[in-house]
Amino acid sequence: MLKRQTKDFINIDPLQTGGKLTEEAKQALLEWGDGYSICDFCQGRLDEIRTPPIYDFVHKELPEFLGCDVARITTGAREGMFAIMHALAKKDAWVILDGNAHYSSYISAERAGLNIAEVPNTGYPDYLIKPDKFEEVIEETERKGEIALALITYPDGNYGNLPDAKKIAEICKSHGIPLLLNGAYAVGRMPLKLKEIGADFIVGSGHKSMASSGPVGVLGMKSEWEEIVLKRSSKYKNKEIELLGCTARGVSLITLIASFPAVKKRVERWREEVEKARYFSSKMEEIGVLQLGEKPHNHDLMFFSSEKLFEISKKVKDGRFFLYKELKSRRIHGIKPGLTKHFKLSTYGLSKEEIEYVLNAFREIIEKYEK
Ligand SMILES: Cc1ncc(COP(=O)(O)O)c(C=O)c1O
Repeated sequence: MLKRQTKDFINIDPLQTGGKLTEEAKQALLEWGDGYSICDFCQGRLDEIRTPPIYDFVHKELPEFLGCDVARITTGAREGMFAIMHALAKKDAWVILDGNAHYSSYISAERAGLNIAEVPNTGYPDYLIKPDKFEEVIEETERKGEIALALITYPDGNYGNLPDAKKIAEICKSHGIPLLLNGAYAVGRMPLKLKEIGADFIVGSGHKSMASSGPVGVLGMKSEWEEIVLKRSSKYKNKEIELLGCTARGVSLITLIASFPAVKKRVERWREEVEKARYFSSKMEEIGVLQLGEKPHNHDLMFFSSEKLFEISKKVKDGRFFLYKELKSRRIHGIKPGLTKHFKLSTYGLSKEEIEYVLNAFREIIEKYEK
């Protein structure tokens, strides 16, 4: 048996807190674990399979949840971003990316052959993406060539900042540029509807924020883009080219569907998650560990900076690994081994008791070494 060391730990790894399986998904995992098991009754297209109920999920539940006209399953947020970029790319065209974009947004753009223009953030300590900067970069880039797409990361994966997406969508619209929302850290955690924001595309990540195994993701769009992004093969008439015919064809999709009722409910409790994060941030600051990024914070993913922990790491036996080891000994997982000065964590899904336990762990560790 391959055992996972950290299975029963309190997990504060932002990558993992929103991807923990529900009980329903755990059961589905066993039932549908065999390769291609979901394809028993496939008539040729993944999203049209009715048993299990993939058709209803993709064509009814997901569009409603994402606030879009058309939805599809992908193998992750990055594959969704790439599919859109590739479908919209033209020779010498540009994509505008916010300066907090994930590496996979850059790589998708590179793979799609797009030139990249970056909207800088405001720098230390908030690292915000401002709509007026966004517009400035659009105007500069318009002088260089055609802009095929703009992307905002909502929120970004470093600071957990939520830019003013509605304002940025208005700006993009006024310049005639389609806007993609990378909601890898939003879809499945917080309420978010494409049409309320006014963007054109949205992607989400099942393994990051929708309580499912991976790799799996969701893609939503306004109907006007359907023909371009979901163009079909000339030979295989029902296969969508950008999705390479079929995407997640197995247990990752089944766990996504199995967790979906719980995910829909949990986004309604988002306010509580934000309150927990703010509380955690304020208590960390009391012990000298500062939260960077937007304040008051609006997301469970938080970036911290600590000179204190860094100074300790220079003196102790385990060096920069001391924090990781101390947390591990308290069965807390999620801060990368070796990090002390800057690290990110997430309070998503933690109970109040677990939040206190983690805060206490930081207090104890600092006190122990400051003596
Ligand atoms: C902001 C952001 N976008 C996209 C991704 C990639 O998600 P996926 O694994 O679903 O491709 C990540 C992964 O960490 C991320 O942090």
